[in-house]
Amino acid sequence: MAQVELRQIVKSFNNQTVIKGLDLTIPNGSFTVLVGPSGCGKSTTLRMIAGLEQPTSGEILIDNRNVNQLEPGKRDIAMVFQNYALYPTMTVKENIEFGLKNRKVPKQERNRLIAEIAEVVGLSDYLDRKPSELSGGQRQRVALARAMVKKPKVFLMDEPLSNLDAQLRQQMRIELMELHKKLGTTFIYVTHDQVEAMSMGDQIVIMNKGELQQAASPMEVYHQPANRFVAEFIGSPPMNIIWTTGLNLKLLKPAQVHAVGIRPEKIRLHRMGQNISEEQSIVLNGTIIAREMLGAETLYYVDTCIGRLSVKCYGDSFFPDKIQVELPYEDLHFFDMAGSRIPSPAVNVLPETESVLL
Ligand SMILES: Nc1ncnc2c1ncn2[C@@H]1O[C@H](COP(=O)(O)OP(=O)(O)OP(=O)(O)O)[C@@H](O)[C@H]1O
Ligand SMILES: [Mg+2]
Repeated sequence: MAQVELRQIVKSFNNQTVIKGLDLTIPNGSFTVLVGPSGCGKSTTLRMIAGLEQPTSGEILIDNRNVNQLEPGKRDIAMVFQNYALYPTMTVKENIEFGLKNRKVPKQERNRLIAEIAEVVGLSDYLDRKPSELSGGQRQRVALARAMVKKPKVFLMDEPLSNLDAQLRQQMRIELMELHKKLGTTFIYVTHDQVEAMSMGDQIVIMNKGELQQAASPMEVYHQPANRFVAEFIGSPPMNIIWTTGLNLKLLKPAQVHAVGIRPEKIRLHRMGQNISEEQSIVLNGTIIAREMLGAETLYYVDTCIGRLSVKCYGDSFFPDKIQVELPYEDLHFFDMAGSRIPSPAVNVLPETESVLL
């Protein structure tokens, strides 16, 4: 087990800076997920922790010890990649054993370790098979076993499930979470899939364009996103963003608020003619332009005078096309010009009259 710390990490490739001063602490024993759009620098960050890539500047510490100059093999880290690169001519047992042989672990100890790890990942009955005789999920488990058998202090995984189909991916997610619990080792897991990040991580690190956006628990990034990027990246469909030009904002500091956000599940729909108090909410007329029935929930896309809103309703609901839309004040998020979320101002938000806007 180990704590990993990045201090002011900068990484440039041929004059292009792809990591721009990253400060991050990955607590001992955590399941930390790095998430962000393609090209934001997730793999580069992971590779620097592993020692496969040198930072241009900044420090990497493992258990408070600077490892910048330490070669990958000495960092006590194991890494699992997306294409798990098993040796095709070797059996499962030989694949797992390979690294141990290299490290000159005695045969008896090797056999004990392999049996133990095979049990943990459920491969005991497959040790004599070749990778070609395994399913995708089983191959992924061999890759995990091969990494685990080294008993590393830190596990690094770069999109390890992306080659698997949706069902298997979900099963492997649960297995990885169980594995993490069992081992208690620090896991650092890279994905571009926010659902995967939310479901697996106890700390989620959201990056964009080489910069840290937020590092916090799943609940915190969801309910208290640091900025508009996080608000829109996490959650499906994303948070609705309403530009204040469409709202008549009577705020204490009106210039500060640039955009207002609300999650799709916080918006309420009502039939026309129902009397809804405007004391606690913004109430607008809307037209449903599309519905997606997803079983347990329904998504509505609703045109209003402040733009198109996505709305998520749970349970059985059916609304006619013309409806009223209620946005509770307490569920609004406020963002400044730079996109940072700011504390809820003492608001009295009035939508412009529809006749003016339409
Ligand atoms: N060896 C390299 N030489 C030059 N540029 C590189 C190199 N490795 C990565 N980059 C660049 O650094 C940026 C970050 O790449 P990185 O692979 O870390 O992204 P990522 O977040 O893992 O993306 P993805 O989700 O697509 O895997 C990209 O713009 C990429 O083109
Ligand atoms: Mg990558």
